[in-house]
Amino acid sequence: MQLSDPQLYRQQAYINGNWTDAGAQSVIDVKNPATGESIGSIPNLGRVETVNAIASAEAAWPAWRAKTGKERGLILRRWYDLVMTHIDDLAMIITLENGKPLEEARGEVLYAASFLDWFSEEARRHYGDVIPQTKGDQRLFAIRQPVGVCGAIIAWNFPCTLVTRKVAPALAAGCTVVLRPASQTPLSALALAELAERAGVPAGVFNVITGDARAIGAELTANETVRKITFTGSTPIGRLLMQQAAPTVKRLSLELGGNAPFIVFEDADVEKAVDALMVSKFRNAGQTCVCANRVFVHDSVYEEFARRVTEKVLDMKVGNGLESDVSIGPLIDEAGVEKVSELVEDAIGKGARLLAGGKRHALGGGFYEPTVLADVGQDMDVASEEIFGPVVTLFRFESEDDVIERANSVETGLAGYFFSRDASRVWRVAEALEVGIVGVNTGMFSNEVGPFGGVKQSGFGREGSRYGLDDFSDLKYICLGDVN
Ligand code: SIN
Repeated sequence: MQLSDPQLYRQQAYINGNWTDAGAQSVIDVKNPATGESIGSIPNLGRVETVNAIASAEAAWPAWRAKTGKERGLILRRWYDLVMTHIDDLAMIITLENGKPLEEARGEVLYAASFLDWFSEEARRHYGDVIPQTKGDQRLFAIRQPVGVCGAIIAWNFPCTLVTRKVAPALAAGCTVVLRPASQTPLSALALAELAERAGVPAGVFNVITGDARAIGAELTANETVRKITFTGSTPIGRLLMQQAAPTVKRLSLELGGNAPFIVFEDADVEKAVDALMVSKFRNAGQTCVCANRVFVHDSVYEEFARRVTEKVLDMKVGNGLESDVSIGPLIDEAGVEKVSELVEDAIGKGARLLAGGKRHALGGGFYEPTVLADVGQDMDVASEEIFGPVVTLFRFESEDDVIERANSVETGLAGYFFSRDASRVWRVAEALEVGIVGVNTGMFSNEVGPFGGVKQSGFGREGSRYGLDDFSDLKYICLGDVN
């Protein structure tokens, strides 16, 4: 791996400030999804090592929480500066382990860094309240205190962002963290841990444990010392973690699957809506929780929209993310390709019209052709399942009431998009969609200042924004009596 700072290429877990294999009996191969080649390996750790990592986080907590918000913020700021200095190396690591094009990976590093930047400042603004008293001789306060040791479990689709979006607010609030990265993409998290160490994050405050998802997840959720689990991943795993965390009544924030509706009304600027769909749908080869999953287009602009989208999709260059001009990389693994293939075949079998793509790409491996399906119906699996791949599904609608009912007819509710130039409709539809995030006349809303999270079976809790610290702190009410 050609990095300007080879020290960022870490292949060990990071526990209590030490880089360690912790006596692992085996390793897990990390593969480049574009080539199938091994690019490294990580120790396959389990329960015992997780217990040790949790103990380190517990031991480090008193000194970390005792620091002022300003002191913690300055350390986060140094971490941010180091991430920005090493942006090219971090982007390279993301592309090699995740497959997204290098330019997109650079964008991800900037996005990841923005959470360090934001929470380095929010750390000193973690305000409580003075509450007007109801009895003359009392004074009432609400203060915020860190919840304690947090377990963070993350997915592979944003290997840097998902780390900083969880760890930055946790550390800013005064918590310590044990993080398990996905086994497909652990190298970004380990590189970030290397930079955290250089920034002065004390030993034990941020630990990265690699290995067996089941064993590590079971310990993080069962261990009494862990007071909170923050998770990004699928809804079924989110449900499992909730069950496992129930006996110790842990706090949870869950950012789970989505099935975003993308609605183009008859009064939309069609060209802008097409451009926005390309951004929303094809970011990370369609592997984001907020990707447009069901595209509802009004009957009066349906054929025009379908034609314009198809033209753009046919223009996309599929390939290894390290090559120039590649706009779409491979899917993460064979299971991802298999799922996308099944969904497309089901839709075509039930009458969907294929306008572009529709099969595995000639490059083989994890590559799938960017695909457009028209005349998609509610009876097809794509109407209810998250695709997580480069497939546009075009549904037709005629009335606002009908499209809102169909948009809301799924179990999940993370994000939704719609396009309209009618101000009344904008408010009406934004309020009616059962989702946590709405993009109006845009395909991109992700940033560090907006509260990111879902409703229904997309989970709960909000990441980023001025609300982001709340999920990592407890509110304590203090009633001071006998003042007079
Ligand atoms: C995700 O898919 O989990 C994150 C997407 C985003 O932050 O925009």
